[in-house]
Formats: sequence, structure tokens, C-alpha cells
Amino acid sequence: MKPAIEVDHVTKIFGTRTVLDGINLQVDVGETLVILGGSGSGKSTLLRLMAGTMKPDAGDIRAFGKSLGSMSEDQLADYRKRGIGILFQSGALFNSMSVSDNVALPLREHTDLPESTIDVIVKIKLELVGLREHGNKLPAQISGGMKKRAGLARAMALDPRVLFYDEPSAGLDPVTSAEIDHLIISLNKRLGVTSVVVTHEMDSAFRIADRMVLLDRGKFVSSGSPDDMRNSTDPLVRQFVHGLTEGPLTQRRREGDYEQDLLQGSNP
Ligand SMILES: Nc1ncnc2c1ncn2[C@@H]1O[C@H](COP(=O)(O)OP(=O)(O)OP(=O)(O)O)[C@@H](O)[C@H]1O
Ligand SMILES: [Mg+2]
Repeated sequence: MKPAIEVDHVTKIFGTRTVLDGINLQVDVGETLVILGGSGSGKSTLLRLMAGTMKPDAGDIRAFGKSLGSMSEDQLADYRKRGIGILFQSGALFNSMSVSDNVALPLREHTDLPESTIDVIVKIKLELVGLREHGNKLPAQISGGMKKRAGLARAMALDPRVLFYDEPSAGLDPVTSAEIDHLIISLNKRLGVTSVVVTHEMDSAFRIADRMVLLDRGKFVSSGSPDDMRNSTDPLVRQFVHGLTEGPLTQRRREGDYEQDLLQGSNP
């Protein structure tokens, strides 16, 4: 398999807390990788490092064979604008602009394309996410699920090779959440984009993942296919994947880690 993104012995430290501790990860071209982990386990941090919006304290990240650490500022900016797209938790639309203008924004800012061409591209992107008829609306006039779709259309405006999703179904009802999952799958299949998805929702994770990794205390404790994860006998994986109330995670909270967390200055 050809790697799209390679995370090579990456460490990230905030204050005295080592959030990521020498982790290795390869995301293959065309796959949908799901990153699981408890709140505060460093999932969003890992996403930001891979997206080149944050730098590691040690180790390196390569995108399509190129080290982000050795890129010039211009090259890195180009990677962030064109190489990847990010769907933020909130959708992060500009409220004063129509849905179409939100999607057109990266095209107007980062290309010299004429308005007539931008118009066509925006229509294609909106069609892909099922919002063709809603381009003229303002973000306040559409639902939460539609905002996510619009955010996704904008993330895809410049045809990125990798899409990062941070909690795409957070705050959505189960049906809308399933629709977003289907959209992620269909974009992956139809356009061949590589997808990296951070999620808490196990139903969603099982629907979309080709492969899953579980992040805990700065390291990957497990990685495998959805079936591997579902059938894992590792107590931590079992607790997380099946949402059990008893297991290493709750045990840890009851025992010494609370004190350690306080000493490390984290805010759980
Ligand atoms: N810019 C920052 N400065 C200082 N600490 C940070 C920063 N970003 C994240 N952290 C800390 O790093 C840890 C991991 O944060 P991160 O947001 O990556 O977790 P997460 O797994 O995405 O959590 P959640 O599921 O709640 O979104 C947390 O303890 C957080 O407080
Ligand atoms: Mg997060």
C-alpha cells in the first residue's frame, strides 16, 4: 500500500504533559482511518499535526513522501490549502455569507479562476454533498447536518487528496449522523480521497472505517480492522468499543491517575 501520511515517532508535549509519546502511524492512499480515544487523549492534536497546523516536539510527519518538517513556509502553506481539507467540529462557516460563497471562498482566495468557473465548481461540490438547492441560503437558515455538509463542500473546494474530519457527527441526531457517515463513505469511494476521521461514536466508526486505531495515554494501544476491534479481548479495547462501565478506564480513574493528572496540571 502506498502511504498518504506517515507519522514517524511523533511526540507532542504541552507544558509538562506528554500528549503524544513517540507514536507511529501510516495512513494509506484511499483508505478511511478512524482514530478513537477518550476525551483529552490527543486525537485533535494528532489531526492538527498531520494537517501541518501544529509542529511536533520530536519526530516527523510525511505527506506523500515529503517531510512536513523540512518544507518551507510556502510549501507548508500550499499543503494546508491544497493538499488537505479539514472538516471542523462546528462546520466553521462564515455566518454572513451564503452557503455558495462559503464554498467559493478557498477558490477565490487561492486560485486565479474566473468567477464563471468558480460558479461551476461550487455547484459540483454542493451537488456532491446534496446541497445544490441550498446555495443561496445563509448558514443560520440551514440545519446542523446541512452545515456539516456545507463545511465538507468547502473543505473539498480545492480537491484535496486527504480529508480530515474531527468529530463529524458530534451533536447530530442518529439519522443525520448516519447520513454524514454515508457521505464520508461515498466521497471516499467516488473520489478516492484518503480520509482520517476522529470520532467518539462507535456506531459511526464501525460504519465508515477500513481500519481503526485507539489512542490512550499518548500511545496507540490497538489497531486493526473493525472486526479485529469488535472481537478484541484486550480489556481496554473492549471497554472502549463496547462502552462498558467497568474496565481499565474506570479503574484507572478510581485509582492513582487522578492524583497524577492533578500533578501534571491537566484538566480532565
Ligand atoms: N494548544 C494547546 N495548548 C495546551 N494544551 C493543549 C493544546 N491543545 C490540546 N492541549 C491538551 O492536550 C490534551 C489533548 O487534547 P486534544 O484536544 O488533542 O484531545 P482530544 O482527544 O481531541 O479530546 P476530545 O475528545 O475532548 O476532543 C488535552 O489535555 C488538552 O488540554
Ligand atoms: Mg478533539
